[in-house]
Amino acid sequence: MLKKVGILANGGDVSGFNAVIRAIVKTAENHGIECYGIMDGYNGLLKKNFELLSTAANGEAIGILPRGGSIIGSSTNSNLFNYKVKKEDGSVEYEDLSDEAIKNIKDFGFDCIFTLGGDGTQKSARDLYTKGVNVIGVPKTIDNDVACTDITFGYNTAVSVAMEALDRLHTTGATHHRIMVLEVMGRYAGWIALEAAIAGGADVALIPEIPYDINRVAQKIENRKKRGKNFSIVVVAEGAKPKGGELTIMGKRDNGEGVDNTKLGGVGQVVATQLEKLTGLEARNTTLGYMQRGGTPTAFDRVLSTKYGTKAMELALEGKFGTLAVIKDGKLNYATLEEVVGKNTKIGAVSGNTEESNIRKVTMDNDLVKTARDIGINLGD
Ligand code: F6P
Repeated sequence: MLKKVGILANGGDVSGFNAVIRAIVKTAENHGIECYGIMDGYNGLLKKNFELLSTAANGEAIGILPRGGSIIGSSTNSNLFNYKVKKEDGSVEYEDLSDEAIKNIKDFGFDCIFTLGGDGTQKSARDLYTKGVNVIGVPKTIDNDVACTDITFGYNTAVSVAMEALDRLHTTGATHHRIMVLEVMGRYAGWIALEAAIAGGADVALIPEIPYDINRVAQKIENRKKRGKNFSIVVVAEGAKPKGGELTIMGKRDNGEGVDNTKLGGVGQVVATQLEKLTGLEARNTTLGYMQRGGTPTAFDRVLSTKYGTKAMELALEGKFGTLAVIKDGKLNYATLEEVVGKNTKIGAVSGNTEESNIRKVTMDNDLVKTARDIGINLGD
């Protein structure tokens, strides 16, 4: 019997966080279960920062379906198993505070914790489950790179924002005969870039999964020029890199092991500069950045998030802990967190771009790759 559950949102914000929260709260209330927000991601477990969520008049969970962000906050640097602790003398140490968090969960009487997040969040959830906590995950991220599910919430909104940006860049490109480059997010997966390129009618899409040859891209633009098309639209995923080359990064964070400390960014400008040199056309880069994460979710994401929220609660009611609500072949389903985390078996181990991590990348047999190639989108190879 579930009496009290907690929801935590972790990792970068996406449109749809609140829609999931609302769906969990509503479904919980229907079963007479009390629902609490664990504030600011995994941090809230350490700080015992729990707030009752309700859909009663003036409750915290009303009117939140269209709202961006997360009413319960989120955190991008809170790995309980290697937690950054600032000491009184100003020095920083990393400590395993998972036992403290687990004690707080037990003391407060949570029967289940819902973890809304991407691969790093679900790895921590798996680690907590291994230590005896009842957890159910919900796959979030604009990057769409969580294993075992066809789609994550927040992704569709990000693609829609990128598509709209491409529509706008088209008019400037066509008016001024320029190459317009759009750098989009996605970390080490090219889903946003690829789908936005198709939806926004781009001529080139550079994705992490296909290291690019800039000369092939320039050739594509030259071919367009020969056909009287004096502008081109190029989408570049932030994780794209040249053949035999490296990622372009803005810097590194210092959040210790267990989180991905790489700050990606800048490859759009690199590509624009090179293309201008190679083609003689003026090239301009626009980096879309956080526009992709904020604001109101699309109808698709509102529905997906609501489906995920209700499925997560169903899994909890059935006692299927240690799982992730997923969409498989278009239908709601679940996978075990162990499957999701994959080879990343070490408790507290690093997620993100590591050999062990299990993120879902674009595969060459994906319909999107074939579709893009069929309509002549150059993928940099
Ligand atoms: O994972 C979501 C995401 O928006 C990535 O696409 C991007 O690389 C990253 O987060 C940026 O994160 P932060 O704001 O923490 O630097």
